[in-house]
Amino acid sequence: MAPSVLELSNVGLALTGNAGLTQILHSISLDVKPRETLALIGPSGSGKSSLLMLMGGLERATSGQVLTLGQDLGTMNEDALARFRRAHMGIVFQSFHLIPTLTALENVALPLELAGAADALERARSELASVGLSSRETHYPAQLSGGEQQRVALARALAPRPDILLADEPTGNLDSSTGEDVAGLIFKLCEAHGTTLVLVTHDADLAQRCSRTVRLKDGQIATPQPVAEATA
Ligand SMILES: Nc1ncnc2c1ncn2[C@@H]1O[C@H](COP(=O)(O)OP(=O)(O)OP(=O)(O)O)[C@@H](O)[C@H]1O
Ligand SMILES: [Mg+2]
Repeated sequence: MAPSVLELSNVGLALTGNAGLTQILHSISLDVKPRETLALIGPSGSGKSSLLMLMGGLERATSGQVLTLGQDLGTMNEDALARFRRAHMGIVFQSFHLIPTLTALENVALPLELAGAADALERARSELASVGLSSRETHYPAQLSGGEQQRVALARALAPRPDILLADEPTGNLDSSTGEDVAGLIFKLCEAHGTTLVLVTHDADLAQRCSRTVRLKDGQIATPQPVAEATA
């Protein structure tokens, strides 16, 4: 069997907020294989973003184990985790998160420069072309539409050729036709580069385009209901 890209075993996440310690995720076990496209769905507050952050090493599990490409994220110190993230993971968010003082081209080049690539600008140029934005290289984020900003964010996330793309409601701030364009690009580029995709979405059509769907409810994986029960 193919080795897993992500392997979560009995993962829990507890966070301390104003109301004290809250258990956000409970005993999540999940295996994601190379080139899979996985949709994470579920109601608001069910823990989708938190689970994505755990997968990306942006949060640490408080119980259980997260193996990414066979590496135990829980054993890495912050520096090692940051290096691992830069080498293997791309992340896109609902609200784009571009750096406002850098042009589109500079935003895409940044992770390549951080990785020490000598030809960062050249590669960034070709990444921007792959999302159809060659004509926007010198634009700053504020001079771009929402859909264009998300395409820049996608180019930036994929430029270092991560093994995994984590996308948290990447079309959530876009109108439906622009969202469809961005979603189309995500699927096309992940397929072209052999990138494994984990996508959080509220959009049932978008979830359907993924090879698998996992539903969260109250911080747990909801067991699919047998058809008879579900329609009763
Ligand atoms: N830093 C934090 N401290 C305490 N609780 C938190 C923290 N971050 C998130 N939570 C809680 O964890 C739960 C899950 O949040 P999460 O953002 O993962 O949900 P979600 O499924 O992504 O929701 P949405 O669809 O609205 O984005 C929520 O009840 C939220 O209030
Ligand atoms: Mg969320």
